[in-house]
This record gives sequence, structure tokens and C-alpha cells, in this order.
Amino acid sequence: MTSFRGRFRSTSTSLSVIESERMVIRVLDPSQAEMMVKFRNENREFLTQWEPARSSEYYTPAFWQVQLRMALRQFREQSHLSFSMLNKAETEVLGVCNYSNIVRGTFQSCHLGYATAEKHQSKGYMAEAINASIGYVFNELKLHRVMANYMPRNARSGDLLARLGFTVEGKASQYLQINGVWEDHVLTSRINPKDQ
Ligand SMILES: CC(C)(COP(=O)(O)OP(=O)(O)OC[C@H]1O[C@@H](n2cnc3c(N)ncnc32)[C@H](O)[C@@H]1OP(=O)(O)O)[C@@H](O)C(=O)NCCC(=O)NCCS
Repeated sequence: MTSFRGRFRSTSTSLSVIESERMVIRVLDPSQAEMMVKFRNENREFLTQWEPARSSEYYTPAFWQVQLRMALRQFREQSHLSFSMLNKAETEVLGVCNYSNIVRGTFQSCHLGYATAEKHQSKGYMAEAINASIGYVFNELKLHRVMANYMPRNARSGDLLARLGFTVEGKASQYLQINGVWEDHVLTSRINPKDQ
């Protein structure tokens, strides 16, 4: 059975915080919007080729104050987990990993998306964050399947998913609009080991 390297604790606002070896993984409070604005601005150019086209508003504190309020609500509703990967002092966003489109009923599944800051690439942060947060998704939310999809040219993302035990299930043409272009994607997923 796969083991997950994350510890979960509840905060005064009864939000779960996930602790991994080097990080605190949590939904940011709207009062911490500046940290996310810094992450987004510092990585604007680096992430352009891997993400949807963003409006200039996306890089402002006003946008993130609203966005983070919505993220808290979505976390409480368990419809979307927008996790920020923070250093232990909680002063810097090292990356983000999001579990979106959480569907219950007979599906019990969600999609995973992620990005590590350019200056923190290849330090193992994303593997650590997904290992810890997917434990929360499988053990606390008890979802059955996490799906993660990548463009064929994004070898780093494909390698990361393979290392984390995601298996390729197919290919979808013109699947997501990335930087203004409908891009083909490789479809992968990982199933809750408790359901196997
Ligand atoms: C894909 C992406 C998220 C990987 O992030 P990352 O934090 O560098 O990923 P990892 O944490 O697994 O680290 C990868 C590398 O660190 C190495 N590594 C793993 N654990 C490590 C550790 N504890 N210490 C140091 N290095 C480590 C891995 O062997 C791997 O080596 P590589 O550079 O030869 O690939 C990142 O490249 C990224 O943000 N890309 C742009 C956005 C994107 O593509 N998002 C996904 C869209 S599908």
C-alpha cells in the first residue's frame, strides 16, 4: 500500500493545514494575498507557456483578495482545493497545487494542476507537495481518482507524474486552451490505493 508523507492539522478557522518535510501546504488567507501576487509576478514569464492566458488583472492584489476568499469558500464546500506550497515560516509561496472539479456521486474524482516557482525548480518541492496533499485527498476527502493531464512536450510534468505513480490512460486532442491555443494532452490518473 502506498504511504503518504503528510501530516494534517486543523487551524482555528477549522481549515486543514498539511505539513510535509519542508513545507506547509494550505489555502492562503485573503490577508496573505501579497504573497501570491509576488509568486504570480515573479513567475509570469516562466509560466506563460504552461497556463491559460491571463488578464493583467490576474497579477494584482485586488484580484487575489477576491480569489482567495473564493478559495476558502470552495475549500469548506470541498469543491476545489487551491493549495499554496509555503516555506515553513509561511513567508513565501514556493508553488501551487490545485485539486479542482471535485465531483462526488458515482465519480468521486478530481483534476490536479500544479506549478513550482522558477527559482525553486528541481528541488523536489512538487513531488513532496503532491505526495503530502494527495494523502489528504485520498484519506480525508476519500476521493477515488485524481486525474492529471500534461502536454506531450512537457516532459518534466510527465516524468513527475510517472514518479508519483500516475498511469497514462490516453490522449485527448485539443483538450485545454493553454496560452491561447487548444493543446493536445496526455491523460493520466492515480487511484486511491484503499479502493484497489
Ligand atoms: C513540472 C514542475 C511542476 C516540476 O516541479 P519541480 O518542483 O521541479 O518538480 P520535482 O519536485 O519533482 O523536482 C523535479 C526534479 O527534482 C529532483 N528531485 C526530486 N526530489 C528532490 C530533492 N529532495 N532534492 C533535490 N532534487 C530533487 C527530481 O529528481 C527531478 O529531477 P529533474 O530536474 O532531472 O527532473 C515544474 O517544472 C513546473 O512548475 N513547470 C511549469 C508549470 C507546469 O508545467 N505545470 C504542469 C502543467 S501539466
